[in-house]
Amino acid sequence: GVEVPDSLSAKYTGSFAYFTVKDRLPQILTKAVDTVHRNMETFFEKYGQEGVEAEKRAISLMSKLRNELQTDKPVLPLTDGLPDADQWNEYLEHLQAGPDTEEPSWFKSPWLYMECYMYRRIQESLQLNPPMCDFDVFNEAKTQSFFTSQQAIIAICTYFLEMKNKIKCFKDTQLKAEFLLLAQVALWGNRCDLSISGGRENSQKLNPLTSLESLKPSILVDDSEFVWEVLINRKKNKTSETTCTRIDIVLDNSGFELVTDLILADFLLASGLADVIHFHGKSIPWFVSDTTKKDFDWTLKQMQAANHMQMSRCGVMWEKNMNQGVWIYHDHLFWTLPHEFCDMPLVAHDLYAELQKSNLIFFKGDLNYRKLTGDRKWSYTVSFDTALRGFQPAPLCSLRTLKADIQVGLKPGQGEQLAASDAEWMISGRFAIIQFSNSYQT
Ligand code: F6P
Ligand code: MG
Repeated sequence: GVEVPDSLSAKYTGSFAYFTVKDRLPQILTKAVDTVHRNMETFFEKYGQEGVEAEKRAISLMSKLRNELQTDKPVLPLTDGLPDADQWNEYLEHLQAGPDTEEPSWFKSPWLYMECYMYRRIQESLQLNPPMCDFDVFNEAKTQSFFTSQQAIIAICTYFLEMKNKIKCFKDTQLKAEFLLLAQVALWGNRCDLSISGGRENSQKLNPLTSLESLKPSILVDDSEFVWEVLINRKKNKTSETTCTRIDIVLDNSGFELVTDLILADFLLASGLADVIHFHGKSIPWFVSDTTKKDFDWTLKQMQAANHMQMSRCGVMWEKNMNQGVWIYHDHLFWTLPHEFCDMPLVAHDLYAELQKSNLIFFKGDLNYRKLTGDRKWSYTVSFDTALRGFQPAPLCSLRTLKADIQVGLKPGQGEQLAASDAEWMISGRFAIIQFSNSYQT
């Protein structure tokens, strides 16, 4: 077999992981603390002095967390008794028992693990201090970014509704062109994540459709033809009314990106390429802008209530999709555990079995890509299938802009060439991939 490389880690001084743990994560924690501070008054009004005391304790836990991080303290077990706490603690024990002689810590352990752990510890600080449990420290940033993307949302909704009117008369070639276009919109929508900007505003302000053509050369791997083949073959080979095509979308960020995902999902239904769409979101606030159930519901409500006809029409249709059960939202604790996806059959067998029912799975965004490939130091030319290490529930496609220093499946020399012309090619979100794997068949 292929040798599995080491995990990315802040122990590699000067790497993006190092820079993230040293600078970006403390910034995110500082922002979270500020947010709680700014909400004191609202909390006082809602819960009285008790609420304020809870807030103060949560703040001090988050400040302590930031201090542990900055002084590279050992990882502590979770104490909040939430359903996934045991799994986290087992994972920690497993690391402690590993070949590294040193205790797991922020600057020594795998980056993926430490970064996930930080978000889980934020949750713990709130969980230990009711009535803070349901407080989302990133909520303001998420809703703000939805509003500042309003014009772009209107542009894409308007385009989509016009197209949808004519969709029933489309030939396959037209359907294909529209699919490729909306997949690219959903792809570039991934640039709008708030964790790369340290929680600073990062929204879509321009009409996303006008820049697609000029962005094409920035798609380093484009397997969209293969994805299309899966979809159209499935549609052509439909034998009876009972064959149902199921597509899963493992969501990433709320805000503009989520809207682009919902448009793609609606298109797949309207075109008859799919019969049911399953969405997967996060069960706790995660990597600043990731979609939770609350964000998902909020977005649908906002769309419906929008003061703009095309937006509210989309919102109404989407609510209907949910009510009719052709859109289904899931959240599974696995998505907020630190595991690479090849561990899913062992760690979350039920989720793996669920994904096996899918005919095609889209994985949105950078973090999902890191987990697909294990966040390891793969060489650029290793194949996507190899990096997946047996994770093959169904045909799958990653739609991701590059925001972390990992990339597989490139042509020989391609990575080196990019590196020579743009030192930030892997971390700036300026490049993207549409990467497909069908290895489940073999
Ligand atoms: O470091 C960039 C980063 O914050 C990574 O930690 C993470 O992989 C990514 O951004 C989150 O991006 P996305 O929202 O696309 O998963
Ligand atoms: Mg994200």
